Amino acid sequence: MCPPEYFDVTYAINPWMRPEVPTDLARVHAQWEALRAVYLGLGHQVELVEPVPGLPDMVYAANGGLVVDDVAVGARFRYPQRRAEADHYLDWFRGAGMRRVHAPSYVNEGEGDFLPVGGVVLAGTGFRTEPRAHAEVAGVLGRRVLTLELVDPRFYHLDTALCVLTEDLVAYYPAAFSARSNALLQETFPGALTVSEREAVAFALNAVSDGLHVVISADAVGFASTLRDHGFIPVGVATDEIRRGGGGAKCCTLELRPAG
Ligand code: ARG
Repeated sequence: MCPPEYFDVTYAINPWMRPEVPTDLARVHAQWEALRAVYLGLGHQVELVEPVPGLPDMVYAANGGLVVDDVAVGARFRYPQRRAEADHYLDWFRGAGMRRVHAPSYVNEGEGDFLPVGGVVLAGTGFRTEPRAHAEVAGVLGRRVLTLELVDPRFYHLDTALCVLTEDLVAYYPAAFSARSNALLQETFPGALTVSEREAVAFALNAVSDGLHVVISADAVGFASTLRDHGFIPVGVATDEIRRGGGGAKCCTLELRPAG
């Protein structure tokens, strides 16, 4: 995670961002601290990346890269406002004793658009990450990458439209994907959960699952009850102020998947 030290909404690169509306920064800090406390309370370890002045979106650590089996693929941001974040995340990976650190050649917004599940990697495109980056990641990780096309600008990153719950279960908002991608999702995950637009705009899917506990937006009450029905323990965290930048719990979290 990256502390929201320099967070603010000073530009708009997604439909959630409204620089003209003031952000309650104290509330952002409190929500981010509460999210971190939830992870620690669940027994997870939380590493911190040093925030950098002038990079207000750095709090969305999920975009800083993708780590699988101790191999880190760094990020390459689409918009100039975020481009400088990439090197800071790469530096962090280099200092973290990864087996390999790869600096990507194509636009790649990390775990915002790449979600590993059961030996494959789901990869979003349409708004940020380029399809060429999907092939690049497949090559670096030696894993099959399934390309999913995002079509609704409110769900511009894959992690706003799809959540990995276990190694064979995902939840998603169908209308965020093209018809072709819906068919691929249905074929790959026949038992998948789907959510309504109402849940999706509450950032229900921007969630982090450890296979049992699912840390989700406190506003996603419908999805929380669906999760309970399926044997999960939803842990609601208020992230509505953090959402002013267009991100929630998952966006603030880059998962470090160790080898083994
Ligand atoms: N303001 C950021 C952007 O538009 C938000 C990123 C949200 N992160 C995410 N993983 N979906 O790039």
